[in-house]
Amino acid sequence: MPKRIVRFLIFLSLSCASSATVLNGAENLPVKKEEKVLSIIQPYDKGIYTEEYISVTFQVDPDRVDTVKLFSSENERATIEMEEDRDTYHYLFRFSFGEHSIRAEAFKNGKRLAREKVKIFRKAFLSKYYRVAPPGYEVKFFHNDKMEKRCDMCHDMSVNEEKGVAFYDISESNCFDCHQSLLYKKFAHAPTVNFVCLPCHNGKTGEKNRKYRGKSKFLYPDPIGDTCFKCHKKNRKKWLARRNLHDPVGAGKCNLCHNPHSSDVNKNFLRERVWELCTSCHADKRSKKRYIALFKYRKNDGIGIDQKFIEGDFLCITCHDPHSSDRPYLLKEDYNGIENVCLTFSKEALR
Ligand code: HEC
Ligand code: HEC
Ligand code: HEC
Ligand code: HEC
Ligand code: HEC
Ligand code: HEC
Ligand code: HEC
Repeated sequence: MPKRIVRFLIFLSLSCASSATVLNGAENLPVKKEEKVLSIIQPYDKGIYTEEYISVTFQVDPDRVDTVKLFSSENERATIEMEEDRDTYHYLFRFSFGEHSIRAEAFKNGKRLAREKVKIFRKAFLSKYYRVAPPGYEVKFFHNDKMEKRCDMCHDMSVNEEKGVAFYDISESNCFDCHQSLLYKKFAHAPTVNFVCLPCHNGKTGEKNRKYRGKSKFLYPDPIGDTCFKCHKKNRKKWLARRNLHDPVGAGKCNLCHNPHSSDVNKNFLRERVWELCTSCHADKRSKKRYIALFKYRKNDGIGIDQKFIEGDFLCITCHDPHSSDRPYLLKEDYNGIENVCLTFSKEALR
């Protein structure tokens, strides 16, 4: 347990005795402590989330509860024993895309006293099934003064990141305790590795998320492209100078393809492996066979062809640049246009 938290825990045990009320319920109304045995503070009911790891924060009346059991719709469960003078607890769940629920049950001496359930939706940027949440769900924000007050007796809620200065030890970042799960992936983006969050989470909004202005201290502009290019200056220069920009790149939607924090996929933290990534939008290009067949055909035609195509060991980006190109169709190499490699190759041609 980090030192800072321990210190605040001691403070809590001193302050708890005198505090008559605690904040409770998603609506943030102060209620008498006695009224609520158990409440799930985070995630919000009917909230939309994007990351795989979602931390559950719940509050109990420590005098009336000795154990809380948590269940997720992914069949994960946890039993948490209450500690003396502590009212707020956490558990980290992992969710696949789609609709899920988290249930909490509070017990005293084996007797169930209360139950609470929240439903969440984990959005996928690239899947047509999970791109849009079912009705009733909405993006809800955590970082406002009201919510942060519920945590500040144990967590330091201030920002201690200085512009252009990396932490000597990232656990010094005030964001680390609660957001370290962003690093529970094989590959992580340099700013996230260093817990430098504010270049992106500068509180500003863009054309696509203006309606959220002021809802969180740590909003990011959507589209995020210009923000990415503030650090990736060389790419900006190179890519934007070319004649043809890939649509999502031109729209600044870098985060459709890249997870801005981290990913298990590869060192460019793509959201999916290249083939799946590209065909999630270009579904008509899904079959690899088409290309293999075509290159065989080209070979038979007497046109020299690289072995890798014939073996089938190639990706969309073997031929296409994912960002931009001076050539038509975002091609990496010159192409004389005599064949329809991708465009019109029909099922008949495979026979
Ligand atoms: C009573 C003290 C206390 C309060 C109040 C508290 N926390 Fe924590 N929090 C801790 C401790 C201690 C840890 C270290 C891990 C643990 O023991 O659960 C922690 C860790 C966390 C984590 C990381 C653990 C995980 O599951 O990834 C998150 C997220 C978190 N707290 C969020 C919150 C939020 C949000 C609030 C306010 C709504 C809050 N905490 C209020 C004591 C507290
Ligand atoms: C007490 C724990 C805690 C601390 C400390 C904390 N966060 Fe959060 N943060 C949360 C929780 C809980 C959420 C909501 C769940 C989620 O989106 O993961 C959240 C959400 C966010 C979001 C999404 C927007 C929003 O408001 O919901 C951003 C961005 C963010 N945090 C950035 C930061 C940064 C940057 C810091 C450090 C300056 C920080 N957080 C410190 C707990 C914390
Ligand atoms: C390179 C830009 C960038 C950096 C750096 C960055 N973020 Fe984000 N973050 C985003 C974008 C963009 C989103 C919107 C969701 C998405 O695209 O995945 C986001 C979303 C989030 C969310 C909401 C996740 C959810 O499940 O809804 C949290 C929490 C968050 N960021 C925390 C952080 C923290 C903490 C840091 C620093 C360690 C950080 N981010 C660094 C760009 C960034
Ligand atoms: C605060 C500066 C900063 C911002 C903002 C930023 N990056 Fe990065 N990014 C870096 C650094 C530093 C590296 C590591 C470069 C290296 O190791 O040479 C990196 C690496 C990468 C890599 C891995 C490939 C490489 O060049 O090493 C990708 C992909 C990437 N960033 C994409 C993005 C995207 C997409 C965004 C916007 C959502 C973004 N970056 C925003 C600083 C930033
Ligand atoms: C259509 C999906 C897609 C979009 C949108 C996209 N990228 Fe990429 N990006 C990729 C793929 C695929 C790779 C891997 C290329 C490779 O391995 O050759 C990549 C590689 C990168 C790299 C590392 C390699 C390099 O060429 O420098 C950086 C940095 C990067 N992208 C940044 C960005 C930024 C910034 C944006 C937004 C302006 C963006 N990307 C938008 C798919 C995308
Ligand atoms: C988020 C959706 C999305 C993803 C992911 C995506 N594209 Fe696209 N792409 C588009 C849109 C939109 C267009 C423009 C309309 C069209 O031609 O379908 C486009 C156009 C293209 C074009 C035609 C450009 C032209 O000049 O006619 C090529 C080639 C292409 N994409 C290749 C790729 C490759 C390769 C990948 C994977 C690295 C990829 N796309 C991933 C949305 C996407
Ligand atoms: C072997 C090289 C090669 C590979 C691999 C390849 N393409 Fe193409 N692609 C081309 C060429 C050449 C064109 C130009 C139009 C044509 O002749 O079909 C093209 C055209 C396109 C177009 C624009 C025309 C259209 O049909 O809408 C898109 C989009 C596209 N490719 C996406 C993809 C995706 C997605 C993948 C991976 C699933 C992929 N390509 C793999 C060579 C390739």
